This record gives sequence, structure tokens and C-alpha cells, in this order.
Amino acid sequence: MSRRKIVAGNWKMNLDRAKGRDLALAVAARSAEAAGVDLVLCPPAAYLETVGSALGLSGSTSPSGVTLGGQTMHDKAGGAFTGEVAPPMLVDLGCRYVILGHSERRTLFGETDAIVNAKTKSALAAGLTPIVCVGETLEEREAGRTDAVVTAQIRGSLAGLSAVELEKVVVAYEPVWAIGTGKVASPQQAQEVHALIRSLLGSLASAEVAGKIRIQYGGSVKPDNAADLAVQPDIDGALVGGASLKADDFLGIARAFSG
Ligand code: PGA
Repeated sequence: MSRRKIVAGNWKMNLDRAKGRDLALAVAARSAEAAGVDLVLCPPAAYLETVGSALGLSGSTSPSGVTLGGQTMHDKAGGAFTGEVAPPMLVDLGCRYVILGHSERRTLFGETDAIVNAKTKSALAAGLTPIVCVGETLEEREAGRTDAVVTAQIRGSLAGLSAVELEKVVVAYEPVWAIGTGKVASPQQAQEVHALIRSLLGSLASAEVAGKIRIQYGGSVKPDNAADLAVQPDIDGALVGGASLKADDFLGIARAFSG
């Protein structure tokens, strides 16, 4: 089963407007270097419009093929939720994707699997592709609980989705101990968990549907470790934090998944 690769840059709460625009312009200008890979930029909400216009988005398509994503959203379509961003607002700004349940959202902002599940359903209802993040902490890995933790997160975050909906989801496996630490999971460690996730998705839908779902790896992905990850059979791209803040690094990673 050949799945189209997807490399997304999670800028987190970094850069300023001018630097964000320059980075988006650089990635858009050089997107052909990563032919065949879906490239997604996820800037802070405050800069979505700036980055979207740098990408030349009209509607949600950009001439460079680089698309836009949010880093989080509320699950409601609107209302009295001070400070929050609604799914239709992301769509309105040209977003095609939204990252949901990132470990920073889970640990710093109290997002549970139930919250991620509600958000996943409303992202799909709004026409956004959710990038649903899961991953174990170092303590959980060392206690031999990786499979149990990831299984519970996948079951909880994707509960109640139909096969048609599941097929549209992107999953990101991001071991918490690898995020921002420079400690990338070994290609074997990552592949093992990706295979577990795919078989779990098979049990939630069917093997055929699971074979179509893209599973990204995230956690200290850099240009020099991306190639070894990219050759793993169940790794379909990367969710990149730190290295997405430099066009050379981001594109270097994307190239590893190209071709
Ligand atoms: P990192 O972040 O690449 O800086 O480790 C990944 C992420 O948090 O998505």
C-alpha cells in the first residue's frame, strides 16, 4: 500500500510575523525539492493569515502545494469561549489541517483523550484533516507500558469514528521523551509503535482502511536522522518541531520522504 507522505512543521509559539512570512515564502519557493510529499505549515494562530497569504492560498489551495494547518482548536463551532479558535475559523483562514492532542496540549493544557476525541470529530465535521498525536512518556516506556498507553490514546482519541472518517485522519506518533530533547526514537522503536498503531486502526475499521491512514513520526526529527525513519514501512512522514523553523532543515527532512 503506498501512502502519500506528509511532513508538517509545528512552529509552536515561535517566530514573529516577519520571520514567519519569510519562512513560509522560502518553503513555498522550494517545495518542488520534496516532490510527492504533502507539506504543511502550522504557525501560531496569530500568524495563520500572514503565512496563508505568503503561501498564496486562495481558498485552501496554494500554487506551491504547501498547505496550512492550525496547532489546536476548540471543539465548538463558535460561542463564548474567550481566547479560543473555532474549526470554521481555521477553514476560513485557508487551513486544511489541524494538530490535535499534541503532548504539550495534553500535559500543559489538560487535554484528555475525551477532549481530543471531541475535537477530532468537529475537525472532520468542519472539513479539516486532524493530525492526532499520541505518545508515551519516558517513565511509561521504561515501565514497559508504551503499547498500553498508545493503545488507550488511540482508542480514546478516535472513539466513535466511522471507517470513512478514520480514513481521513492523520496520526502522529510522538514519544514525549523525544520531543524537543534531541533524543530521536530509533527507526526500529518508531516502526514498532507505528505497526502497533496500524494494527489497532485495523481493528477499529478494517485492514484496508488502516492501510490508507498516514502515520507520522515526531520527536527530534532532523535532516540527518530523517532518511532512516523514512525507509520504515509504517512511517509515512514527520511532524517536525524545532527543525521546522529553518527552511533548509524542514526541506531537508521533506526530501528524505520524497521519491
Ligand atoms: P521536535 O518537536 O521536533 O522539536 O522534537 C516535535 C513536536 O513537538 O511535534
